[in-house]
Amino acid sequence: MFRRPNHPVTLALAILLAAVSGCANSNGASDQPAKSADQVEVFSWWQGPGEKEGYDALIAYFKDQNPGVDFINASVAGGAGSNARAVLASRMSANDPPDSYQVHAGQEEMSDVKAGKVQDLTYLFDRNGWRDKFPKAVINAITIGGKIYSVPVTIHRSNLLWYNVKAMRAAGIAKPPATWPEFMTIAAKLKAKKITPLAIGPEWTQKHLLENVLLGELGPAKYSALWTGKASWLGADVRAAVKVFSNVLAASDVKTFDGDWQSALDKVIDGKAAYTVMGDWADAYLSRAKGMTFGTDYDAVPSPGTDGVFNFLSDAFMLPAGAPHRAAAEKWLEACASVPGQEALSLQKRSLTARVDSDKMKYKDYLASALAAWQNPATVVVGSATHGVLVDTVRSGEIDTALSKFVGGGAIDQFLKSMDGIYA
Ligand code: GAL
Repeated sequence: MFRRPNHPVTLALAILLAAVSGCANSNGASDQPAKSADQVEVFSWWQGPGEKEGYDALIAYFKDQNPGVDFINASVAGGAGSNARAVLASRMSANDPPDSYQVHAGQEEMSDVKAGKVQDLTYLFDRNGWRDKFPKAVINAITIGGKIYSVPVTIHRSNLLWYNVKAMRAAGIAKPPATWPEFMTIAAKLKAKKITPLAIGPEWTQKHLLENVLLGELGPAKYSALWTGKASWLGADVRAAVKVFSNVLAASDVKTFDGDWQSALDKVIDGKAAYTVMGDWADAYLSRAKGMTFGTDYDAVPSPGTDGVFNFLSDAFMLPAGAPHRAAAEKWLEACASVPGQEALSLQKRSLTARVDSDKMKYKDYLASALAAWQNPATVVVGSATHGVLVDTVRSGEIDTALSKFVGGGAIDQFLKSMDGIYA
């Protein structure tokens, strides 16, 4: 269908910078203190506007609690860890692990667990009484073979459609689409007014869109079965849903997009594009980085066809085997698990805290609606494929290759065959 930009260059540059700096600081700076007993080096991808603010707040809490420990922020920018993952993999294979690193709770943890590259953290959970402090869905995601391997810090929702309230009113669109067919009808009206119906970003955002179109078109059970290899990708229903995805993509700016997820939101803010499908970290960008008001300037609804479904993901931190500063890394993980640490992060980053016992009165505006959806017993919770709950890193890479061929002009049947082969 469409061409994609030259993403691997960014990636190669990030790896090079990490190698040159001796650690993966996003700007390649080499001003870190020499390794000493009282430091902790933490690897993350939270560097961009809309995620850095929350991460900085968590780091500030850690520093406040541990004044004697130097915090080395080894972050590699790029939404969803799109650049960070390769840098981390190269450090891990060179036996140069950080003291802790960010991961998505779930299958994304699997390869490192299988390869024995991370510590079993069950003892930390038992020592601190954390087992009943996290929701069941999250505990299930971080438990592999009966052992717990990460400390979850957030609960995010992936299936949201964001829009600019005033721009849509001015364009005469009374309400956002509740289904993808409705979106296509609205898209025709928007195009006539020279408004791009959907803003998109790089490859991972395209996969993010794909998962939510499949969720909307096929429903939660089929969605989960597909991404976990329990259903065939060759059915007529799946083909029809992928066809909807390609129509939706054709109504987007995939041919011309530039930048990451924030740039897609910028187009919605400017009124150049009507909608974007993005996780609720978008709320941090719009409200915190851009100073807009939820409900008045912008709003979000479940992405088309997914009302009543919460497509969740959770950011977590792990402890690599051979972490150079294990005691400090444990302190970091304790800060990550704490209620004040989680609140510092989440209230800025606009996620629900992973802890069940945080103060829910602090959740305002968008977060109040996220909490209501998460706690509603009628809500169906599914796990994100793009953000690691359902798919491991090996399959994820294979899916990226298949999807980028499809988005780059490949045939639908070839894509479905490739997807089916990945799960064979
Ligand atoms: C997700 C991550 C979120 C947010 C987003 C954009 O994968 O879980 O916390 O950072 O990527 O980078």
